[in-house]
Amino acid sequence: MNIVDAIVLAFWVMLPAYVPNNAAVLAGGGRPIDGGRTWGGRRVLGDGKTWRGTLVGTLAGAALALALSAVAGDVGDVLGVALPTFPAPVVVALPFGAMLGDIAASFLKRRTGRERGAAFPGVDQLDFAVAALALAFLAAPGWATETFTLPVLAVIFVLTPLLHVTTNIGAYWLGLKNEPW
Ligand code: CTP
Ligand code: MG
Repeated sequence: MNIVDAIVLAFWVMLPAYVPNNAAVLAGGGRPIDGGRTWGGRRVLGDGKTWRGTLVGTLAGAALALALSAVAGDVGDVLGVALPTFPAPVVVALPFGAMLGDIAASFLKRRTGRERGAAFPGVDQLDFAVAALALAFLAAPGWATETFTLPVLAVIFVLTPLLHVTTNIGAYWLGLKNEPW
C-alpha cells in the first residue's frame, strides 16, 4: 500500500474516534461521572469527565460514522482509494472506545496525582486511539483485521498525536479549552 493511501485510510477510519473528544469539549458540563467521589483522597475521575460530554461525544462520533458510510463509495471514487464503510458494531465501538480511553486516562492521571487539566504527555495523545482500536477489534474482529493493516496502524500512531496537538492548540486559541493540550 502506498503511503498516501495509508494516510487517507487511517484518517477516514479514525475520524469517528477523533470527533468525540472535540464534541465533548463543546458539550461538557453538568454532572461528573464520578459524582464527586474520591479515592485515596483524590477524585476518581474529576469534573472534566461528565455524562453529557461522554454521551454527546459518543453520539457525534456515531453520527459521523453513519454519514461516512453513506458517502464512502463516492468519496473513495474521487480520491481513488477504496474506503470502507462502518459496520453497526463499529459505529458505536470507535466513538465509545475513544471516550472510554479518555476516561481511563483521567483515572490514571488522578491516581498519579495530576489535577484536572494537567498534561500527561503520551497518554493524552494516544489514550482515545488505543481504546477505540481495542473496542473496534472486539466489536468486529474480521472487519478490524482487514481495515487496520500494519501500514494503516503505523500511520494512525503518527497521525493521531499530531492531530491531537494541533486541534487542542486550536481549541485553546478559540477559547474553547482551558489548556492547549
Ligand atoms: N469533557 C466531558 N466529558 C468527557 C470528556 C471531556 O464533559 N467524557 C469536557 C469537559 O468539559 C472537559 C473538556 O471536555 O473539561 C476537556 O476534556 P479533557 O481535556 O479530556 O478534560 P480535562 O478537563 O483536561 O480533565 P482531565 O485532566 O481529567 O483530562
Ligand atoms: Mg485535558
